[in-house]
Amino acid sequence: MKILTIFGTRPEAIKMAPLVNFLKKTDDFEVKVVVTAQHREMLDQVLELFKIVPDYDLNIMKKTQSLTEITVKALEGLEEILQKELPDMVLVHGDTTTTFVGALASFYQRPSIPVGHVEAGLRSFDMQNPYPEEANRVLADHLCDIHFAPTELSRQNLEREGINPQRIFVTGNTVVDALQQIRIMSKNMPLPFETRENEKTIIVTMHRRESWGKPLESVCMAILRIVSDFKNVRVVFPWHPNPKVRNIISPILSNVERVHLVEPLDYKDFINLMGKSFFMLSDSGGIQEEAASLEVPVLLLRKVTERPEAISCGIVKLAGTNEDDVYNCAAELLLDEGKRDKMVPDSNPFGDGKACKHILDAILTYWRR
Ligand code: UD1
Ligand code: UDP
Repeated sequence: MKILTIFGTRPEAIKMAPLVNFLKKTDDFEVKVVVTAQHREMLDQVLELFKIVPDYDLNIMKKTQSLTEITVKALEGLEEILQKELPDMVLVHGDTTTTFVGALASFYQRPSIPVGHVEAGLRSFDMQNPYPEEANRVLADHLCDIHFAPTELSRQNLEREGINPQRIFVTGNTVVDALQQIRIMSKNMPLPFETRENEKTIIVTMHRRESWGKPLESVCMAILRIVSDFKNVRVVFPWHPNPKVRNIISPILSNVERVHLVEPLDYKDFINLMGKSFFMLSDSGGIQEEAASLEVPVLLLRKVTERPEAISCGIVKLAGTNEDDVYNCAAELLLDEGKRDKMVPDSNPFGDGKACKHILDAILTYWRR
């Protein structure tokens, strides 16, 4: 059976890499890897780490390109590859433009190519938050034929939308598989900055489109107040390369004492840093899933989350993007370490590191039917 995997951004690569390598090890599949390269440097970091050499690279990234440009370039590029390779199944992941376009390009073939959606069924139930990801995953789910839902809740979301229950498999999230593999390598790596004794490190990541402008600006102002009021706090902010993001952060946080604006970190360095931090401020999707395994709380810089399991288990708290709210949530944990420790759950609701095996079993079940 020939499986063609399509991905294009850092988070998709992190969560697809363990699956690609797992499927390649079996005798059942011939695996081809297509990257749209919607991201470039951030994608290449992951490919190198997991030793994946793509069979096709559409190399579509251009600085600050629009969603339309990404969609059109990826759709055209994928058509040619699908017609040449004629795979038995395509696998896409998550909720990016590459995800949606990968599913659409496969659907457009005649006969349509069956598509498996890894990380299916996540819903915030708000098309504008996160934007455009909620639309991407809803559209992808309805174009796909087989759904790998990470949790029971995501399975229920799919069923409620009329997806055939026979085609939904609860598998856990492959991010836990990735984390477990890379964590072993990341132990004892040096940190990208010097720390003092008794210092607390806060990691920040923020990049989402709905955060551009006032929300990101307000969070930066809150960070400024945090480092000014808490002299034992060091902030590390691996900032997204998007100029639209950096142009907002730079005037507020450049050259501020104990604030490090650093280039996106290699996944193993990032995990190492996360594991040593006191808590995180983030609008990321994947970080909400990694937090429980790494036992590091996240104050989520968003209005809503499609990962309510992270809130229910305690590891994530919805802080929003209002300056006072973010400052108060952070101050609460900094002033009372007990509150921070209470957020850490016993286990990770997103899986146990065996998602790749569950996905492989599901593909075989689907195929035999
Ligand atoms: C994309 C995804 C988002 C995902 C995020 C992960 C869409 C619409 N958005 O958002 O769902 O959460 O990736 O990080 O699919 N850039 C570089 N180098 C890189 C990557 C990006 O310079 O390696 C810059 C470019 O100027 C690019 C811009 O960042 O145009 C934005 O990249 P894009 O893929 O459009 O959106 P992200 O915000 O990264
Ligand atoms: N990450 C990384 N280096 C960094 C910041 C994040 O490797 O400097 C990882 C992080 O551990 C997580 C993923 O990138 O697995 C999240 O990516 P991002 O926030 O860009 O996308 P999202 O998950 O929000 O779609």
